[in-house]
This record gives sequence, C-alpha cells and structure tokens, in this order.
Amino acid sequence: MNIRPLEAKAPAPTTVDDARFAHESEEEFARILDFYGVRWQYEPRTFPLRQDDDGRIIEAFSPDFYLPDFDLYLELTTLKQGLVTDKHRKMRRLVELYPDIQIKLLYKRDYLSLLAKYGIGAVNEHEHMAVREVLISATEIEHRLKELGAQIAEDYAGKELLLIGVLKGVACFMADLMRHISLPVSIDFMTISSYEGDRSGAVRIVQDLTETIHGRDVLIVEDIIDTGMTLQHLMKQLWLREPASLRVCTLLDKRARRLVETKLDYVGFEIADEFVVGYGLDYQQRFRNLPFIATVRSEALQNSSNQTPGSRKIES
Ligand code: IMP
Ligand code: MG
Repeated sequence: MNIRPLEAKAPAPTTVDDARFAHESEEEFARILDFYGVRWQYEPRTFPLRQDDDGRIIEAFSPDFYLPDFDLYLELTTLKQGLVTDKHRKMRRLVELYPDIQIKLLYKRDYLSLLAKYGIGAVNEHEHMAVREVLISATEIEHRLKELGAQIAEDYAGKELLLIGVLKGVACFMADLMRHISLPVSIDFMTISSYEGDRSGAVRIVQDLTETIHGRDVLIVEDIIDTGMTLQHLMKQLWLREPASLRVCTLLDKRARRLVETKLDYVGFEIADEFVVGYGLDYQQRFRNLPFIATVRSEALQNSSNQTPGSRKIES
C-alpha cells in the first residue's frame, strides 16, 4: 500500500491563542509547554491509516501535538477504556506504516513525568509547584551553550585548555559546555566558601585543584556572577600560580548586583536582579536538578533556617 502522511493545509497553530483545541486538557498541556518554553505545534499532520480499493482514505490519525525540538508526536488521552484501546490500535498501525516517527501516548497524570523524562519540565510535582517562572528554558540553554562552545574553541584554536569549575553550582553547565568545545580539554574543580557575616570578604578554598595551572591556558567556569566578590578573590589566588592565561566563562551574569568589577570573557545570559535556581543553581541545596533556570515562589523560599535568597553560602 502506498500511503503517505498528508501535509497540513494551513501552518499548524503554535500558540494557545491560535489553536482551537478539541479538549480543555489539550489547552492545559499547551500552557504547560509554554511555561517551560517548549515549542509545539497542534495537530500539524494527518497520517492516513487505511485506504479502500479506490485509494480513498477511510481511516486517519492526527496526533495532538508535535514538539519540533524533540522530533516527537504526542497524543493525549483520558483513562476511558474504550478510547484508550482504540488509540492504542491506531498508534500500533501508525508505527507500522510510518516507522520513522516517534510518538507517545500521554495520560493526563503523566504530563509532568513525561516532560521531566525528556528534560523539558520540572522534575516532580513538588518542584513544579514551587517554580514561579521559567526564565531560560532547557532549549535556550542548549542553543546558547553551542554558541559559547564554538566561540571558545575558536578563541583557543591550536591550544590546550584547562577548564576550572567552581562547585557545586557549575555541575550542569560544565558538563554540557565542555561537550561543545572541540579542543583538547582538561577539567578540574574547586570548592570555595564564603560567608555573609565575614566582613573581610575572605573566600576560602575548601577543596583545591588537583591540576597544576602554571603556564597553562585556564578558563574559570562559573554558574553565576552576582556581587563578583567570589570571582575576584578566586582570580587573585589563581594568578599567583602563574597560568599562561586566565579567563572567565559564566552561565549567568547578574550585572545589576555587581560590587566588584571583573572582566567576564564569556557570558551565557545576563539576568535581572532576581534569585534564580535550576540547572545547577540551588536554594539551600534544592532545585539544582531542574533542567532550566527559574525563579521560585516566595512560599518555597521560606521554609527553613535563617538563610535568605541572595545570601552567601558555603559551597556555591
Ligand atoms: P558572588 O560572589 O556574589 O558573585 O556570588 C556568586 C555565588 O553566589 C554563585 O556562585 C552562587 O552560588 C551564589 N548565587 C548568587 N546569586 C544566586 C542566585 O540567584 N541563585 C543561586 N545562587 C546564587
Ligand atoms: Mg549556590
């Protein structure tokens, strides 16, 4: 049987305002995708499933959503048994006829866990409730890291680079960034601590490098530059070890709060003066595992100890 998907007659809707959703749950899901900055198309294609002897299509299937960044179709469903059985049958037929497409059947209760599985949404219900606004989506981070990695590779062409990550906030950024730098690269980490009450502003090295940096091209990789105090102290200490060069790459730059100016050679995103979490950044060690950068509801920031957002903490 010669069977091909039908191209949509008009471009598929990609915003809640443009789409005419068949069910409320579809609109709700579209809003969740928007919330996490995930691009979507509503029912962009119809896949013929059966033709009669004259070649007329007698059965077809139009999956509810397509996520272009993941090349994934999604079909939402309720738990009504009759519907589910029919959808399963159609999906089996779809996969037989069009083996190259990826499609998932999604129950309402699975929304969040599916999004999490694809690194799109929050990790669990609790975290989802705590997030106020997603400032930088997982896809935006990924695109920006490609650009940063390419820029770094170009600037250091012909050299060997030592990336120094400042724990713990840099975990996600370091892991992803280094995979976009097409150079011979070594990595090392250090842990430093700083205390709000410490007037000297001293930054203490809690865990030092294992690599020698003398004569090497070193790039400090940071999660966020806020006041700039931590970075300034770190730079001072590292310069004493006489690297060939020492530059800075930070994922986030909270420029508005800067107290000490230090030149930032590579900046992922400049952000406003708001406390952010996710993609390595924490509030009291939580939220590091969110795949995006977000602000958190104030209720979620209140539940323990004397620490306030923006205060300096051990092991940034
Ligand atoms: P700075 O010395 O003020 O620049 O402090 C930088 C460190 O403070 C970062 O490495 C973070 O650990 C922490 N920090 C500053 N702003 C934020 C934020 O918005 N979210 C999470 N951690 C932050
Ligand atoms: Mg921190």
